[in-house]
Amino acid sequence: MQDMPSLQGRRVVLGITGGIAAYKTPELVRRLRSGGAEVRVVLSRGGARFVTAEALAAVGADVADDAGHGMPHIDLARWADIVVIAPATAHLMARLAAGAADDLLTTVCLATEAPVCVAPAMNRAMWQNPATRANHAALLARGVLFVGPGEGLQACGESGPGRMSEPAEIAAFLERLWGEAGALRGLLAVVTAGATYEALDPARGFTNRSSGKMGYALAAALADEGASVVLVSGPTTLAAPPRVQRTMVISAIEMRDAVLAYRDTMRLFVGAAAVADYRPEAVSPRKLKKEADTLTVTFVRNPDILAEVARLAHPPFTVGFAAETEDLEAHARAKLEGKGVDLIVANPIGEAGVGFGEDRNRVILIDKDRTVAWADAPKTEIARGLVREIITRLRRNAPS
Ligand code: C5P
Repeated sequence: MQDMPSLQGRRVVLGITGGIAAYKTPELVRRLRSGGAEVRVVLSRGGARFVTAEALAAVGADVADDAGHGMPHIDLARWADIVVIAPATAHLMARLAAGAADDLLTTVCLATEAPVCVAPAMNRAMWQNPATRANHAALLARGVLFVGPGEGLQACGESGPGRMSEPAEIAAFLERLWGEAGALRGLLAVVTAGATYEALDPARGFTNRSSGKMGYALAAALADEGASVVLVSGPTTLAAPPRVQRTMVISAIEMRDAVLAYRDTMRLFVGAAAVADYRPEAVSPRKLKKEADTLTVTFVRNPDILAEVARLAHPPFTVGFAAETEDLEAHARAKLEGKGVDLIVANPIGEAGVGFGEDRNRVILIDKDRTVAWADAPKTEIARGLVREIITRLRRNAPS
């Protein structure tokens, strides 16, 4: 059996910028070529400090650089079926976001009509910096594909998001892009997951028992169908699924802001998070002392993220969850209509073995036409089924 049939005959321009992960790129070239792809490398000045043109040529890549070796930019831009940038530094992301064309690689990116795929690699604080967040959002909105970054120990000794995805993951991403799967290819999906945490003072706050498992499983299942997935997650120890861009948030307000950054570009929104309906009106800057016998906290309403997204002028397809202890269907249908969403997934709370915090779920699907109850199943299986339902509905809504 061939290694990666969908890479056969594909023309990959691989841009390498200046990060330590560049030492892994000969392995990436080797994998792509063993799958049948042709690879031309654009080695930036920074990239050349970490990997040599000789090492890349030795594994079969043609190498172009800023000194004028190799094909000129327009030829590379036209030749490419895809431009993959691995590793991509924070600086490269900033230049791409700005539309810069100040070296061969950025010029190729600006000139090409092929998709551009970025595998970021940087220190975790640089990845989380608001400037990089904004560049990331702008590039996603423009249809730039992202693979990774992963989380883990970094060259600088810190641990967190920013590690370049392994060559095998990048190759698998491309294989999937060109492979059979991918009914949602090119579609930007935003998924919320987990509980929010509403602070009362620096040490305490209010949260709930949502584990985030359902939302994480949905994000993974959407990515498996080729969607570009942004997962906006409340605090959890779950690992980010592969090929999913995760933004960690704490409070409902932060979650809303992270979601609405994609207000003009998302085409699917899944609200799987258990968002706190209320937050303490005031957050004490100092730890509250136990002085009185009773403590009264005033709560104020949080924004309803799902309803807000459903009310956008050009709303995406919206999917909400309804976790209920009683009258599941009636409450869920009221939510469908009240919030103006396209599909509600209702699940019971308080049944043994399913729902909040569990690995299994039992759901009822409710849309404006019908109600369908599914047997209980693992959340990963429910997620795949829901994605199939979403695909069917998106096709039905698509202009013919
Ligand atoms: O009204 P209720 O909280 O039961 O609605 C649940 C649905 O609404 C879920 O999809 C949840 O993610 C979403 N929601 C939201 N923002 C809120 C409350 C709920 O997005 N403040």
